[in-house]
Amino acid sequence: LSLSLCLSFSIVLKAQILAGGRGKGVFDSGLKGGVHLTTDPAVVGELASKMLGYNLTTKQTPKDGVKVKTVMVAEALDISRETYFAILMDRACNGPVMVGSPQGGMDIEEVAARTPELIFKEAIDIFEGVRDDQALRMAANLGFKGPLERQAADQIKKLYDLFLKVDATQVEVNPLGETPQGQVVCFDAKINFDDNAEFRQKAVFAMDDTAESDPIETEAAKYDLKYIGLDGNIACFVNGAGLAMATCDIIDLHGGKPANFLDLGGGVKENQVYAAFKLLTADPKVEAILVNIFGGIVNCAIIANGITKACRELELKVPLVVRLEG
Ligand SMILES: *[C@@H]1O[C@H](CO)[C@@H](O)[C@H](O)[C@H]1NC(C)=O
Repeated sequence: LSLSLCLSFSIVLKAQILAGGRGKGVFDSGLKGGVHLTTDPAVVGELASKMLGYNLTTKQTPKDGVKVKTVMVAEALDISRETYFAILMDRACNGPVMVGSPQGGMDIEEVAARTPELIFKEAIDIFEGVRDDQALRMAANLGFKGPLERQAADQIKKLYDLFLKVDATQVEVNPLGETPQGQVVCFDAKINFDDNAEFRQKAVFAMDDTAESDPIETEAAKYDLKYIGLDGNIACFVNGAGLAMATCDIIDLHGGKPANFLDLGGGVKENQVYAAFKLLTADPKVEAILVNIFGGIVNCAIIANGITKACRELELKVPLVVRLEG
């Protein structure tokens, strides 16, 4: 007697690296392709063992590739219809809002520009949560019919639970699709998390992979500084996002162009000021530095000490204009 176990569904294995072109990539184990489909469960382990711990090289990776530490193994499904669904924080609604379109799988901004009548919104009451009638109306607007409408409505409510649980500012599912077998599935999603919730979302923030972020922004974040790179040549060193923007506007008004702005925020320490100067002066575009500090939320002496220390140690070569007030 010989038994052969064969699944009625396919399994997909996908090497998890932050680079595109994985399907056509090559592993240094010899395995070709970062994405594999199989119906034979026995092959899964074999394939995974040729992926994990090996380097995958694709068109978008460095030539030695990127080491694969995680492989996604999931049921492979066909998509018969694609919709768009998101929950995000919206100032105009003073809270979360659901946004959906039966036109999924593509760029939602384009759908909004070309066919605004295909974008549906529902404001969510933060105390009540997503009501049944709201979820069902959204599911119907997304074009889910018959039993799929209920299924989609349930998913919508669960997505809102997720949104709350992980302190998201946005949960975007594109596509929220249906399969030929009549399942509603979140095929691809992007979640943004509220930085202010880091203290209670340790597990989420521990997954942060900065390998592909702007290195200056990443370095700034280490010192609790917010750095935004711009195109001009005047570096701005400010405290508070509002003051940062007002400072950029004033520079612009007077015919200059900001190279960046670095927001110190409140509760500054001297070493942060030093780190900030190091970051600002490392940018070759910077031809002058403007410091504009509102002393109402920070002790100006700390800033002044930090600046003088930085000027001495970094041998500052560009003009520096400092305004400390408060
Ligand atoms: C594998 O990739 C890593 C980067 O993830 C790189 O540092 C290393 O040199 C590569 N190894 C080989 C054998 O190419």
